[in-house]
Amino acid sequence: MHFNGKRILLGVSGGIACYKAVELARRLVTAGAQVKVVMTKGAQEFVTPLTFAAITGQTVGTGLFGPGIHPLEHIWLGQQVDALILAPATANLIGKFAAGIGDDLLTTILLAATRPVLLCPAMNCEMYANPVVQENLARLEHRGVTVLRPGVGPLACGAVGYGRLPEVEDMLAALSRLVSPQDLAGRHLLVTAGPTHEDLDPVRFLTNRSSGKMGYAVAKAAWRRGAEVTLVSGPTALPPPYGVEVVQVRAALELLAVLRERFPTADALIMAAAVSDYRPESLASTKLKRGSRAQELRLVQNPDIVKELAALKTHQVLVGFAAETGDLLAEGRRKLEEKNLDLIVANEVNRPDAGFAVDTNEVTLIPREGEPLALPLMSKDEVAERLLDWLAERLGGREAQGG
Ligand code: C5P
Repeated sequence: MHFNGKRILLGVSGGIACYKAVELARRLVTAGAQVKVVMTKGAQEFVTPLTFAAITGQTVGTGLFGPGIHPLEHIWLGQQVDALILAPATANLIGKFAAGIGDDLLTTILLAATRPVLLCPAMNCEMYANPVVQENLARLEHRGVTVLRPGVGPLACGAVGYGRLPEVEDMLAALSRLVSPQDLAGRHLLVTAGPTHEDLDPVRFLTNRSSGKMGYAVAKAAWRRGAEVTLVSGPTALPPPYGVEVVQVRAALELLAVLRERFPTADALIMAAAVSDYRPESLASTKLKRGSRAQELRLVQNPDIVKELAALKTHQVLVGFAAETGDLLAEGRRKLEEKNLDLIVANEVNRPDAGFAVDTNEVTLIPREGEPLALPLMSKDEVAERLLDWLAERLGGREAQGG
């Protein structure tokens, strides 16, 4: 979605991770991007240009000179795209880029490029740890190049360490930030997601059907739009979104403790977690045994977290969610008032395609000021975008607080 119609130049240099660049090209094309691949000589030893040409539907740049090569290609290729990604970037390519050497098509394009560059190094861990490589990366970062630090893990050379090309998913996420409007830049967003687990004994707990999908979608989209994001997550099966600081919690009281600490420096709190309203009165230290009679479970109320934080509000914008099965607008408004929120995202959960654990939702945005906005059924990713449109506008004229 975020790559629809975007023009991406994928620079591939010669390392074994070249095979992952093929997958990257494929994913970009599937996401709607127009992908122009430029390969170094070394890269062509690992993968043929034909592979990329077949995937992207475009000719692959392989050299500066030759028949059919436009004499100005090396100038405009890095200027007419939305972003450039170098994956994998070898120590040699990084060194030439940092030193300003242009001795082939890719390095010459980089010298003339005016668009954002995402550099994804991949090499042997000793090579990556070499101070000259680190210095070159620091120099490039200083000049505004975004470096996606390699992951740790087993390398093709048999060693284990830093040097792996980042996962395709992470490269896509980082690149999507470079091609998206940064309307939340400088903002710190606190987002909560998922259910809570309220322990009864060492093996049992009370919980609910929240999957965390809505909150994760908000966190991911907010980071892509430039925000610094802290996602406080209850237990979910979802992978941590790239770029987002994730704090894992289980019970409502833990969630409250983390939020109290982080709230003062946040610009907004988006409370998508499905917090349990009750917890067991006592926590058994050993597993509860089956008895001969019916058991009674005593529950006590959890604090209303978002309401407590609203009372501490200085400048923060507070957004809550309301899952309803009745009169959406009336109930939404009542909760907005009661919890002192700036916006409530209300949805009907009594239908199969909205609410808990599915990928779609149909919500109404009810702001404190202004008219409610009923959105049609859409993906949770799209709901997140619409919610952030409202937030970006709301935060618009304000100074970022930061911390
Ligand atoms: O009252 P209800 O649970 O429907 O309200 C939902 C909103 O309140 C959500 O944003 C949810 O995260 C928040 N909430 C909370 N603390 C609770 C219960 C709900 O912050 N104990």
